[in-house]
Amino acid sequence: MKRHDQTPTPLPAIQAAHVDNNNQPLTTNQGVKIADNQHSLKIGLRGPTALEDFILREKITHFDHERIPERVVHARGSAAHGYFECYKALTEFTMAAPFSEDGKCTPVFARFSTVAGERGSADTVRDVRGFAVKFYTDEGNWDLVGNNIPVFFIQDAMKFPDLVHAVKAEPHNAIPQASSAHDTFWDFVSLMPESTHMLLWQMSDRAIPRSYRTMQGFGVHTFRLVNAQGQSVFCKFHWTPMAGTHSLVWDEAAKIIGVDPDFHRRDLWEAIAAEAFPEYELGLQIFTEETANSFSFDVLDPTKLIPEEWVPITPVGKMVLNRNPDNFFAETEQVAFCTAHVVPGIDFSNDPLLQGRIHSYIDTQISRLGGANFHEIPINKPLAPVHNNQRDGMHRHEIHSGRVNYEPNSLAGGCPFQTAMSGYKSYPEPIAADKVRGSPELFSDHYSQARLFWQSQSPAEQTHIISAFRFELTRVQTLAIRMRVLSLLVNVDGQLAESVAKGLGIAVPPPMPLASTAPIPSYPISPALSLLSH
Ligand code: HEM
Repeated sequence: MKRHDQTPTPLPAIQAAHVDNNNQPLTTNQGVKIADNQHSLKIGLRGPTALEDFILREKITHFDHERIPERVVHARGSAAHGYFECYKALTEFTMAAPFSEDGKCTPVFARFSTVAGERGSADTVRDVRGFAVKFYTDEGNWDLVGNNIPVFFIQDAMKFPDLVHAVKAEPHNAIPQASSAHDTFWDFVSLMPESTHMLLWQMSDRAIPRSYRTMQGFGVHTFRLVNAQGQSVFCKFHWTPMAGTHSLVWDEAAKIIGVDPDFHRRDLWEAIAAEAFPEYELGLQIFTEETANSFSFDVLDPTKLIPEEWVPITPVGKMVLNRNPDNFFAETEQVAFCTAHVVPGIDFSNDPLLQGRIHSYIDTQISRLGGANFHEIPINKPLAPVHNNQRDGMHRHEIHSGRVNYEPNSLAGGCPFQTAMSGYKSYPEPIAADKVRGSPELFSDHYSQARLFWQSQSPAEQTHIISAFRFELTRVQTLAIRMRVLSLLVNVDGQLAESVAKGLGIAVPPPMPLASTAPIPSYPISPALSLLSH
C-alpha cells in the first residue's frame, strides 16, 4: 500500500461487518419484523405478561448479556485506526513485512490505556500507560504491546500475578487505589528492590501524561530482528510523539480526575475528528549480541533500558492515527493484542518477563472474549488470508466444507500446506544450559539505572518526584512500608531519600542491602498512621 492510498477507510473485515440500520424496519434477531416495540404481550391490558412473548424475552435476554469481563489489567482504554509508514526498507536487519520497502504503509489499530483502573475509571490518574499497536501486515498480524515507560516493575513473569494483586483494589473491600497509593502496592514494591527504577519513572511526570497524543511508547523488552538470510540482531522499539512528550502536573491531573474523568479519551477522539491526526515516530535501537554482552547489565532484564548514548535510536517510520473507531465495543473493547503475534522477521529474546507474556494474552482472551475463535472478530482479523485445520469451538463464524480437517492427508486433494521457505521460522539460537529456576547475576543491580534516571531529571522534575513519593507514601498507613521504600531510595540518592523522609516526618533508615540475596530488613509493623498531607 502506498502513502496516497491512506484515506481513512475501514479494514475490509470491519467494512464487511458494518450494518446500516438507517430507515430499516425493526426486527428480532431472527429477522422477524416487530409490530410494537413499546408494549409487552399481556393477558388483558392490566394483566400479567405472557411467557410466550418471545419479542420481549429476546430483547431483555440480549440486554442481560451485553457486558463482557473487562481486561484483568489495562481495562480502561481508548483506540484509533491509522497506518504505519516505513521511511526506508530495513531488509538488512529484518524481513518483517512493515519494513520491506521504502514508503510502505501498513494499516494499524492502536489502543492506549491505564493499567490499574477499572473500565470506567478516570484517565489522568498517576499510572503507567499502555501503548499497544496492531500492525495488519500482508504477512499476518504483528502486535507491539508496549507501555509509555521503557522499563518494568519486575524481572520475571512468575511475579506478575502478585504485582497485579498488589496494585488492584484490596480484595476484602474492593476499594480502588487512589492513584496507585495504598498499602498493598507499596508493600509489594518495597519488598521487590528490582522495582526501584520503575518506581522512579512512575513517580515522575511520565506517569501523568498530558494526552495520549503526547506520550512516548516502548516495547520495553529486547526483541530480535531476523533478516532473509537468517541473521539476527537485538532490537528495542521506541515510539516518539511528533507533538512532543508532555505531562500534566499533579494538581492539574487531580482536578481533571474530578472535572473530566474522560479527559484523555475525549482529547484523542476530538483531535482525530478535527483531523489533527496524532503522529508517532518509530525508532529502533539495533545492537548485536556481542554489543549486548559488553553492557554492565543484562539486556534480558526488563528493569533496564539501553542508554541512547550507548546505542542511538534510528528512526524507521511513522504511525498516523487518522480514524476514530465506529463502535467502541466492537473495536476498542474486543481488540485482542498479544505479544505472541509476530511475523517473519520479528522474534523474541529470552527475557523471562516477555516469555511469560507470550502465554498470558491469548489465554486471558479465551475467557474475556468467550472461547478460542476471537481471531474471527472483525477487529482481530488479519488482512493476510487464514487457512488451517483449526475447527469448531464457541462462536465459530467461518464455514469450512469437505470431510478433511487434518494434515497430512491423501483424501482432500488440496488442503493447506506448510511453506518451508516463507513460513515463520524461530531464530535457531544455540542454548546449552541446565534447567533451573533463578536469575542471572547481572540482574541484581537494582539502583544504578534508577540513579541515572534521577540524575537526568531537571530540578523542577526532581521536585515533582519528591512530591509524588511524599503524596503517595502519606497514604500508606503502615510505617514499616514507608521505611522500606525510603531504604530503597537511599540506594538511589541520599538527598532524594532525605527530602521524601522529611515530608513524611520520619528519619531516613539505613539502605536496603545491595546484594539481592541479603534479607530485606524488617521494621516493626506499627499501628495505622493517620493520613498526612504534604
Ligand atoms: C494487557 C498480562 C507485562 C503491556 C494485558 C492483559 C494481560 C496482560 C492478561 C489483558 C489482555 C486482554 O485482556 O486483552 C501481562 C503479563 C505480563 C505483562 C502476564 C508480565 C509477565 C506487560 C508489560 C507491558 C504490558 C511489560 C509493556 C511492555 C500491556 C498492554 C496491555 C496489556 C499495553 C493492554 C493491551 C490492550 O490495549 O488491549 N497484559 N502483561 N504488559 N499489557 Fe500486559
